[in-house]
Amino acid sequence: MEKIIIKGGQPLRGKVAVEGSKNAVLPLQAAAILAVQGTVTLNNVPPVTDVKVMDRLLGFLNLKTAYGEKQRQLVLNASFPLSSEAPYDYVNQMRASLLVMGPLLARTGHVRIALPGGCSIGARPIDLHLAGLEKLGAEIKQDAGFIEASCEHLVGTRIPLDFPSVGATENIMMAATMAAGITTIENASCEPEIIELGNLLNKMGAHVHGAGSKVIRIQGVYYLHGAEYTVIPDRIEAGTWMLASAVTNGDVIVQGTVPEHNASLIAKLEEMGVTIIKQADGLRVLGTSVLIPANVKTMPYPGFPTDLQPQMTVLQLLANGTSTMEEHVFEKRFIHLEELRRMNAKFQISGSVAILDGPTRFSGAEVTASDLRAGASLVLAGLAADGITQIRNPQCLDRGYYHFYQKLRALGAKIDRLNIEDKFKITPDQQPRQNKGQEKE
Ligand code: UD1
Repeated sequence: MEKIIIKGGQPLRGKVAVEGSKNAVLPLQAAAILAVQGTVTLNNVPPVTDVKVMDRLLGFLNLKTAYGEKQRQLVLNASFPLSSEAPYDYVNQMRASLLVMGPLLARTGHVRIALPGGCSIGARPIDLHLAGLEKLGAEIKQDAGFIEASCEHLVGTRIPLDFPSVGATENIMMAATMAAGITTIENASCEPEIIELGNLLNKMGAHVHGAGSKVIRIQGVYYLHGAEYTVIPDRIEAGTWMLASAVTNGDVIVQGTVPEHNASLIAKLEEMGVTIIKQADGLRVLGTSVLIPANVKTMPYPGFPTDLQPQMTVLQLLANGTSTMEEHVFEKRFIHLEELRRMNAKFQISGSVAILDGPTRFSGAEVTASDLRAGASLVLAGLAADGITQIRNPQCLDRGYYHFYQKLRALGAKIDRLNIEDKFKITPDQQPRQNKGQEKE
């Protein structure tokens, strides 16, 4: 069994470089489906598992792709007849597989995609994606765990979103690029990743206006072609390094980040007593031994990102008094707190609010990462803890962080990732015998 092992108590020091944004790249990969002619070349593409899963899905759909890990360059060619079915294996591994829906529908007039199953960060319905595509003229059917959408042609229209869903905004944007007339997405998501998608689509020949604002207008065109684009740095990776410096009372320079993309995090860190200095070589984050409690609410951009919520709660638990974390984007995104309880954290959860009682003296324990950002929060707690922390399921960190523990080690952390034989594993013949008719848990 693979585990991350951390000996805590070491302040991090040095410089760390941020990779390209995973959440920006995934929709850009999907957008390549729209290019009937030429290749789409993406630069600064991080070698993380989610990007590889999307790459395999696109290969399944008959795109030809080539990735140079050293150059961080991905070249995609969609000028072949495409398949329009995305099987459960891909969608089950990664919800962002849904992003092929809009472009496949626009390109081929048909898409059949497996419904994503449950997710460890709460219910994640896709009603907004489907309602948007339906408004553009798609006929939608659900059958045997699949969603099927088809259309003769798409027609632009007004699409007000009930919630500024990132994925729904992206799917509708991509579908609308080739719809007849004008599509207006209202209450659109404003994340920097949406601006990235708008930029690439425009380079491919689309007419997208207002990406990054609440209202996006898209004038449909007949066809899209290849283009080259360099992806922004990953603001969630950058934020994770900033928090890693803060929880260890360290002094880390985060390189290649865009500070404005982390404005809400920077404001909270400063409120808590952390010093942030914008330098020529990056953002310097200086921790403090006297952390001030702070109340945080996750919100769609430019609010505090839900993808930094688990990591932020570790810092709040270290602060000198009670802090609150309100989760307004996903339900059930406090699973990591139950693991942190094993490391001595004291808190209460009431609906979407976690009341966090600091200051915590984290003590090392064996814990399990339930998802990518929960995993990052456990690593941060391990770095701040007394003694040894062992984290099971470290593979989920590979979904969004490249060389996570190696980069931490370069900053001075005592951390390793090992394949450890599980001495206490229960083999099938050691399982307690079940009485006939007894329910399994
Ligand atoms: C994206 C990010 C993810 C981030 C999230 C919120 C990618 C690949 N992933 O995910 O890392 O945590 O934004 O910033 O970019 N919802 C509905 N109906 C829908 C769609 C969404 O009710 O049709 C709800 C979800 O259940 C959730 C909320 O809206 O509660 C936000 O989801 P959304 O913005 O769509 O997130 P994703 O695009 O899945």
